[in-house]
Amino acid sequence: MQNKNLVGRLKQYMAFLDVEKLSAVYGTSKGNVHALENVSFSLNEGESIGIAGESACGKSTLGLSMIRMLLGGKIVSGKVHFNNNSILDLQESEFNKNYRWKKIAMVFQGAMNTLDPVFSIKEQFVEVLKQHKFAGDHEKVISDAINSVSLNEDVLKKYPHELSGGMKQRIIIAMALLLKPNFVIADEPTTALDVLIQAQIVNLLKKLKKDGMSIMLITHDLAILSEIAEKIGIMYGGQMVEFGTSEDVFKNPKHPYTQALLEAIPRLHGDKPKYIKGVPPSLLEPNQECRFIDRCPKAMEKCKKDPPNFKTNSGYVKCWLYEDEK
Ligand SMILES: Nc1ncnc2c1ncn2[C@@H]1O[C@H](COP(=O)(O)OP(=O)(O)O)[C@@H](O)[C@H]1O
Ligand code: SF4
Ligand SMILES: [Mg+2]
Repeated sequence: MQNKNLVGRLKQYMAFLDVEKLSAVYGTSKGNVHALENVSFSLNEGESIGIAGESACGKSTLGLSMIRMLLGGKIVSGKVHFNNNSILDLQESEFNKNYRWKKIAMVFQGAMNTLDPVFSIKEQFVEVLKQHKFAGDHEKVISDAINSVSLNEDVLKKYPHELSGGMKQRIIIAMALLLKPNFVIADEPTTALDVLIQAQIVNLLKKLKKDGMSIMLITHDLAILSEIAEKIGIMYGGQMVEFGTSEDVFKNPKHPYTQALLEAIPRLHGDKPKYIKGVPPSLLEPNQECRFIDRCPKAMEKCKKDPPNFKTNSGYVKCWLYEDEK
């Protein structure tokens, strides 16, 4: 009995997902693009994370690395522990058989525009199941997936041109949920949708979370994360520059870039949003300075050296300003 309690307690404290110093590059004719560098974070059972940062900071690369679908690039170092299994060390065949789509799924950025116009939605679901070599009851899993995204099964007879943007996005999310994964990486699922539909998709993600799913929600829009994510990771120039609970990051943002991102959110009342001046750094063979140095209002001499991660209440911040708080 005591043992059982101990196992229960341990389970509660063991990380559900632990990403450790993950780095990935894309080889190009001009040199290596260091799209992901030493990214670390962890989630407990049932938690979700929001990943935010400007365009081209490495968000999609992080998601694609975790589901091992980094086309054109490669993971060069780091570990991903999922339920205590080191999933980057598995053979591709084993990862594909036991993890990809079954435990970890991804809603790819822009995927709603890739539905095939000449096939009905049902035919496209069946095709996905064939690709997954799914041998079970097709009708049942398709109907479960459609229900889980709160669509009516009539939609299965339709063709993509008959659906609104919001419905297409739900279909894409349902396709990712077909094999009932418990971790879903959603890459910019609300981008290119109008504000009302965005709110519907956020509500759908909230429902999935309530049903027991952990979500990694990638977005360039910090405002939508507070509703979904217990943890937040802020990315800049291929690095995660701040990680912590949503409460800490929103209430007490530490990294100058996080502070600037929060000030850039338009508000109904109060000050006008402030744009972050300057441009993101090139990730092509970057130098050893803090990546934010050219845009940071608080830059100092020391920032010519890339800062390590300094521990915070609930995570870390990668900025020399917090060195003394160690
Ligand atoms: N296939 C690729 N080949 C070369 N560079 C790439 C490729 N995909 C992404 N990149 C580069 O990697 C960096 C990170 O891209 P990405 O992960 O897509 O960022 P985000 O999702 O934050 O917009 C960018 O500089 C981008 O240009
Ligand atoms: S390390 Fe320096 S340049 Fe980089 S964010 Fe901190 S203060 Fe700014
Ligand atoms: Mg992206």
